[in-house]
This record gives sequence, structure tokens and C-alpha cells, in this order.
Amino acid sequence: MCGIFGLVGDTKKAGQTVFTALKELEYRGYDSWGVAGVPLHTNSTKLICSKKVGKILDSKIGRFAESQIAIGHTRWATHGGVTVQNAHPHLDSEQQVAIVHNGIIENFAQLRDNLLAKGYVFRSETDSEVFAHLLTEELKTTTFPEAFRRSFMQLEGLNAVVAIKLGEPSILAARNGSPLLLGFGKKSHFISSDPAGLIPHTKQVYYLEDGEYAEIQANSVIIKTVRTNKQQKIVTKMLDWNVDQVSKGSFEHFMLKEIYEQPKILSEIASSGQANAERIARCITKSYGSYLIGCGTGAYACLAGTYIFSKIAKRHVNWAVGSEFGYQVDFLTQKSAVIALSQSGETMDILESVKQARKKEATILAIVNSIGSSLYRLADEKLLLGAGPEKAVASTKAFLAKIAYLLLIAHTLAGKKDQGAACVKAAAAATQEILTSTHINNVKKISKRIAQSEHMFVIGRGVSYPAALEAALKIKEISYIHAEGLAAGELKHGALALIEKGLPCMVFAPKDETYQATLSAAMEVKARGGYIIGCAEERHEVFDAFIPVTDIGIATLIPNVVIGQLFAYYLSVEKKLDPDKPRNLAKSVTVK
Ligand code: M6R
Repeated sequence: MCGIFGLVGDTKKAGQTVFTALKELEYRGYDSWGVAGVPLHTNSTKLICSKKVGKILDSKIGRFAESQIAIGHTRWATHGGVTVQNAHPHLDSEQQVAIVHNGIIENFAQLRDNLLAKGYVFRSETDSEVFAHLLTEELKTTTFPEAFRRSFMQLEGLNAVVAIKLGEPSILAARNGSPLLLGFGKKSHFISSDPAGLIPHTKQVYYLEDGEYAEIQANSVIIKTVRTNKQQKIVTKMLDWNVDQVSKGSFEHFMLKEIYEQPKILSEIASSGQANAERIARCITKSYGSYLIGCGTGAYACLAGTYIFSKIAKRHVNWAVGSEFGYQVDFLTQKSAVIALSQSGETMDILESVKQARKKEATILAIVNSIGSSLYRLADEKLLLGAGPEKAVASTKAFLAKIAYLLLIAHTLAGKKDQGAACVKAAAAATQEILTSTHINNVKKISKRIAQSEHMFVIGRGVSYPAALEAALKIKEISYIHAEGLAAGELKHGALALIEKGLPCMVFAPKDETYQATLSAAMEVKARGGYIIGCAEERHEVFDAFIPVTDIGIATLIPNVVIGQLFAYYLSVEKKLDPDKPRNLAKSVTVK
């Protein structure tokens, strides 16, 4: 989950460059940060290290001695609280080695006990620190690369580790599960947990595979397999993202920028996504049983997919959240198609499920935003969302891109390709309309009124039900208002008990088969004192506040979700929170 960045090259300011790059990765974790470097001056007897608690964007690195080799980390706490001691890098007691780590070392207690028995002193509560001491122990008998390899082999769990040592020209990096990629610059080489950190330096990358380790020097890179120590061929890839895409531009927050990028992304999918949709549609046609899996926002895209496939393609697809799918793979066969939806392509809960599906010989299809990500590489057939880098923790444009492709695929399966493209085009126009100033001012005004609410509901029926779940997820993660997404028909089965005077309830009421029943549910809420925010084509007397939404059939779910995104954003701003970095969350969830 955390951000890792390292650099070795023709510079004296490796520490400062790593610090700046970590700012790009802050969305991976923002509890604390740290940078360690090998001092350029050969008479230095210790590594340099600077660590602080808090957001890196609010920090300064201060004086950091000249160095050509440095590694750094932004932390999202798992083992141990948010303290300077727990921040990475972790160093040995003599400050000869420094390591940064992502993942969870499952056998850390046992490793720590062995090291304690040998007299090592632990300063942090983290699992990560064991690696610094393991390395020191192994260094008693062998070289830095071999000690690193032997230490890595002792770890259980899904981990990525990067290390430096005083007097050594290399950064060493290994992964098993947690992502790492190398960047190839002109006179420097880089290691990063994430492409966003590399973009300002290079687009030429190599994704380290599970069980590989890298010896990275200014002029060379060697990749080897951890177990066999056998050298591997390096085939690099070019990233297709640019620097503008990873900066905020004139927007105050990444989330708002990403919301505004959506109409363009939808238009591009409408005009050029068909060939991709057809490839996936062919795999689904060949399969006997298709399963959509995703987590969080991705899971709600999957649920929406079940309605879209049923309505448009008259086809049954199953869905499950990534963390649960692994418990129901028993019925998979060689003929099953597992379609995994993910922005990052690194979500551990999805990867684990996919690996289990692979054991059952199911075909794996990935609908993913990050080229070269673990899911992308694991899949038999892949479709790139093309939404560009998403940096706000709350996923917005990747959700819309997933829905757009599901619409294209479903229409393709139904033999109605042109209607699919028209449907996504209409969604692009409806989204553009929601982003005009009249609508935005309306959302801002209503947000002001409801910002102090502790709870709220978002309801819808049919495909508006996953839309309600997605809108509620956005609102809760960014504004900390407890928002519950509900199938409107379920209210009377329990949740109505929670309605109190003034409780906001957002209602998605497109003029489809669900319209009347959804309005009835809204009336039940209003009768008990609820404050109804209606999202519909026409105003209705039950609505206390009204957001007009053009009806575009099944794709109305798209503008409705955009309204949910805007509410989440403006509620967060109204409450003076940071919409890009909600508490306790990180962008990429690479732990189980
Ligand atoms: O990268 P992924 O799409 O696999 O991420 C899945 C979830 O972690 C993600 O959608 C999360 O729920 C977002 N914070 C929601 O806005």
C-alpha cells in the first residue's frame, strides 16, 4: 500500500530527488515518510536518513548530504502506530544498511525472536525492521546481493523490499506479490512501487515479476530469480502516461480534476473502444459461466455489469467482491471466464482470487487501468481502460470507464455494436451537462445544507442500485458522513427504522421501469421526516431538493454516479477535509 521510490545515478542530490518523487506517491500512504541515502563522501561512516510523521506535501527534507544513491517511502501503517520510529527506512543499529518495505511479513514474530536471541535491538513496532537486521546478520558471511537474496528468501507473505548499504554502488530490490517497477533513465536508474513516480524521469520501465530481484546501479541493471539466482532477460515497456496527467494542473484537488476528465474519457471509449470490447465479448461467448470480480468501486461496477448484461445481452453473469470470490471458486471449470475489474491492477484481494481461479484453469480476463500491473500480466486476455493515471484515493474516472466498457461489451454480445457506442456517447454528453456551473452550484448549495449530517441514504432500484452503492461509497470515504447505499425496495425491510427528521436521502429516479416504485420509497422516507434529494429528469413533489439528470436509458447510471462523486467532493471541501487523501485509506490496496 505504501509508496517506494529509489534512485541511483549521475547526481549529487539523490535524496532530494527521492523526496520529490515521494510526493507523487503520497496517495499510496501518507502517515509518515522517510529517505535514506549513501553519502557521496567516502569518509562518512553512516548512511544519511531523514524521517518525519505527517503528510509529505506539508514537509521539507531539510539538509540532506550529497548522495548518488537513495531510497524513500511514504507509509500507510499496518504494524505499529504512526511514529518516526515506525516510519521507513529502517536501519541497522550501526546505520550501515537501510531498507524500505511494502506488504506484510507474515513470519515476522518468529524472525524477530531469532534476531532478538542473537542480540539485535529493535527500535520500531513494525514487521519491516526485521529485514534490516536479517540483512546485517547475513552480511557477516557474504556479499550484499547474496545477503539480500538469502534474507528475502526467509520472508513469508507478500512483500516488496528495497535496500542500500554504505560503500555499495547498488540498490537491491525484490518482490513477491507487492508491486515494484524499474525505470531506465539516461544516466540514472530508478525503482518505484508505482508508475506515477517514474513519469517525470522516464517512461521506459520493467515490471519486476514475483520472485525476482534486481541489482540496480547507475550504469547497469541485473535481474535474477531469487530462488535460483539465475539471470533473467530484461524486456522493457513504455508507459503511455504523460507528466500533465500526473499533475493537478489548475484544479485544487486531483479528485476534481479526475471528475472533469470523465466526459473526454467516455467519448474516447465510445469512438475507439469497440475492438477491445469485441475481444472480451468473444471470450465471454466461448465460456460457460462468467464471473465479474472487483473490490470497492470495482465491485459496484461488477454489480452494475450484472444488470447491464441481463438487460442488454440477456445474459447471466455472476459477481463477487474480490476478497470473497476465493471462497467460492469450487464450481469453476476450464470453461469459466473470470473477469477482474481493477483500476490499479494491484489489489491483493483480486489477485489472490484470480490465482485461485487460475488453479481451476478458468480463463482470466482483466479490465484494468494500469498497463503492466500484476493483474494485467496475470490475465489471458486484457482490456486497458485508458482512463489515465488516477491519483485521488477515491476512484472516479476508472469506474466510469469500466461501466462504459461493460456497456460496449454487452451491446456487442447482443449484436448491437452501434447502439453500444451511441449509449456511451450519450453518457459522455450527460456527464458534461452535470459538470456545468449551474449544476455544480446546485450541488454546492445542497452540500452546504447537509454537510453536518452524521448519516445519509442513497437509494435506487435496478441499475440505479449499484449506482446508489457507488455514490454512498464515495460520500463515506471522502466526507466521513455515514452514507448507506440501498436498493430502494429494501428500506421497508429494516433501514426505515433509522430515518429521523432531516436525514438526507439521495434518490436516483430515472424514468425506467423502476420510477414509480423508487418514488414510493422516497415518499416513505419523506413521511418519516427525511430530506429528499431527487436526481431525475423531472422535478417531483416528493423532492425537497432537485438535481436534473437527462434520461439516457440504462446509461443514466453514469451521470447519477457523477452526481454522487460531486456530492462527495463538495461535502468533503465544505467540512474542510482533504478529498484526495481520506483518513485510513490508501490508493492501492496491496495487502490482504
Ligand atoms: O485499484 P482497484 O480498482 O482494484 O481498487 C479497488 C478498491 O480499493 C477501490 O475502488 C476503492 O474502493 C476506492 N477507494 C473507492 O473509491
